[in-house]
Amino acid sequence: MNDQASTLRVLRGGSIAAAMPRPQRRSLAVTGGKGGVGKSSLALNLALARVERGSRTLMVDADLGMADLNLLVGVAPSHSMLDALGGMPIDQVLVAAHGLHLLPALNGSSLLATLGPTGQQRLLELIDGIAANFDTIVIDVAAGLGLTQAVFASATTTTLVVANPEPLSMADAYASLKVLATEHGVRRAYLLPNRVTSRAQGDELVARLSGLVGRFLDLELIALPPIPADPMFQEAAQFGVPLLVHAPQSVAARALRLVDRVLDSHAAPASVDAAPTWWRAAAGDRR
Ligand SMILES: Nc1ncnc2c1ncn2[C@@H]1O[C@H](COP(=O)(O)OP(=O)(O)OP(=O)(O)O)[C@@H](O)[C@H]1O
Ligand SMILES: [Mg+2]
Repeated sequence: MNDQASTLRVLRGGSIAAAMPRPQRRSLAVTGGKGGVGKSSLALNLALARVERGSRTLMVDADLGMADLNLLVGVAPSHSMLDALGGMPIDQVLVAAHGLHLLPALNGSSLLATLGPTGQQRLLELIDGIAANFDTIVIDVAAGLGLTQAVFASATTTTLVVANPEPLSMADAYASLKVLATEHGVRRAYLLPNRVTSRAQGDELVARLSGLVGRFLDLELIALPPIPADPMFQEAAQFGVPLLVHAPQSVAARALRLVDRVLDSHAAPASVDAAPTWWRAAAGDRR
């Protein structure tokens, strides 16, 4: 993994990237309510932004039954978390690519898609068992507002909500935030505007969602810098290569690195670093 990470750093600009401060430890869930808003794309490339900075990074595909993160990563896993839940050592299930490790789900698995609370807890425990090997854990949460989505979106110490500047996406992002705040004890979340075509459009999205959250929810919503609409995403997907690898200097790739830095400027509490487990219940705080 280290070799791949350093290769990636060299590809991104060698010594400049290597001189960057190593990111703090963080567990991050990327959610958004609506389908197709860019959750997986942004989760993966944010994970890679951290790999570039030397972070040992685990990505978890929590779109359990419709898993497609492996396609974005460009790998064809032989096993999935279903095997791990069935007793296979989780090390045998992890797939290494582009300097990160992926815990794959299984496309078309109704067993995973309908995983109940016991299975979800078991999955969190399995991740917990390997968490000490990683500095960053990024969970790609499925679309929708079900219990599984909420469990994974609220499990980490950092919850990030992706929204596009369309009324439906904003409504679904608000609905997700509402469920997380009122039913799952989330007190702080980050808003990541995606596919914006102008600064004004990003500002308006942030103003509208922040206004609603401020009025109706007991939740601190922190806006991150927007990710522009960038045709390089589609091109990267066609090549089966993540954006940060395919087009490292594209506008969206640069915006994603900025988002990673801004996230780190909101320091995780010491309790997260010191916590024996990465997930929120044990960390005792959320940032
Ligand atoms: N900033 C962007 N600019 C252009 N295209 C984008 C951008 N972000 C994402 N996309 C494209 O949008 C599509 C959906 O992205 P992605 O699969 O990441 O969304 P998702 O929210 O994970 O979807 P699902 O809910 O189905 O899991 C992809 O084709 C992706 O390349
Ligand atoms: Mg997805």
